[in-house]
Amino acid sequence: MKLKNKDPKIYNLIRREVARQKEGLVLIPSENYASLEVLSAMATPLSNKYSEGYPQKRYYSGNKFIDEIESIAIERAKKIFKAQHANVQPHSGTQANEAVYLALLKPGDRVLALDLSAGGHLSHGAKINFSGRFYRFFHYGVNRKTELIDFDEVEKKALRYKPKLIIASTTSYSRKLDFKRFRAIADKVGAYLMADIAHIAGLIIAGLHPHPFPFADVVTTTTHKTLRGPRGGLILSKKRDRLDGSNLAQKIDRAVFPGTQGGPLEHVIAAKAVCFREAMEPGFLKYQKQIIKNSKAMVEVFKDQGFRVISNGTDNHLFVIDISPTGLSSLFIQQELEKVNIFVNRNMIPFDKRSAFDPSGIRMGTPAITTRGLKEKDCQEVAYLVCELIKNIKSASKKQKIKEKVKMICRKFPIYGNLRW
Ligand SMILES: Cc1ncc(COP(=O)(O)O)c(C=O)c1O
Repeated sequence: MKLKNKDPKIYNLIRREVARQKEGLVLIPSENYASLEVLSAMATPLSNKYSEGYPQKRYYSGNKFIDEIESIAIERAKKIFKAQHANVQPHSGTQANEAVYLALLKPGDRVLALDLSAGGHLSHGAKINFSGRFYRFFHYGVNRKTELIDFDEVEKKALRYKPKLIIASTTSYSRKLDFKRFRAIADKVGAYLMADIAHIAGLIIAGLHPHPFPFADVVTTTTHKTLRGPRGGLILSKKRDRLDGSNLAQKIDRAVFPGTQGGPLEHVIAAKAVCFREAMEPGFLKYQKQIIKNSKAMVEVFKDQGFRVISNGTDNHLFVIDISPTGLSSLFIQQELEKVNIFVNRNMIPFDKRSAFDPSGIRMGTPAITTRGLKEKDCQEVAYLVCELIKNIKSASKKQKIKEKVKMICRKFPIYGNLRW
């Protein structure tokens, strides 16, 4: 590899990061290992091309092949998500959301979304995010007892605040979203419904989670979580605007470019097309089924070991445990797990009394370890290791043993084979 000699500093850091990914167990539910085909589509001179606009309507010349690639990506996205319209250009999930807000709202318009501590995302109205600064967000939460979305509260707040947009979406919610119910509430107040399926896109394609269409007007997603593609965003929508009959697809496209972005990342769009094709293969359904089986198997261990699991379980790829009874800081646990090459992320729990920087929960998920090939029993072993570490957080010898076991599991389930970067 030329980079090795030309820029050894960066080359070495890339090599070390790849080694970290290979030698660690990633339990961060928003991360995954994209296929070599996806990675190789990104590492191409497509990155050199400027393609502002859309296929057959570009501002620069030389887009003959780029047009074909982007058109294929659009058609595949429409097919796997059963969507009338797709925009494959958003650089990320947040940018996809930003474009939808620009398409449907005016600054100061009201939006109703899930509270951050109950599992919402920053781009759903956090005060420190553009969304919370430009639009008037109101939040619904979960029921204190069941920790499930409280639809009575959603309806009450919708009737009270009359939002123009309702967002159905989560980042750390382990149960199914009832899009039909959200639609019924949106209809009562004449609001648009947006489903942000960033986390659960793969499960939806596989039919393992209720589909947001026909209920949602617009669906946004990332392409790098359960979908296992390149880092990026995607917007799917109906063709017509339900409220005024105008061209919704055109509004979305204009909001992406020129509304919020310039030139699209065509090397990433090619990689998105590759991952959409992968999602059509039978192996994808098998993979998504295994993700859920593994997630449920891990939850059993945590419960068995005395940990409280938020909402008492999971229906999807992730779950959150409440570590407040341990008296330990979640930041500390996350750091100690990192030392034994287990990667998790600390997370707020419903009605959390602690800050987002050092909250009361640890969020874990199975998309990445399932890609490695781990099955239920293997995942249970991983869950035991996490419990062991939390319970023996001060024991250096225990941690050493856990680290050795993590190494063995990673060797048994290699990622990217023997390939070296
Ligand atoms: C529900 C949801 N929406 C949007 C995003 C933002 O995606 P990105 O990090 O690509 O901007 C995330 C990321 O975690 C998410 O979970």
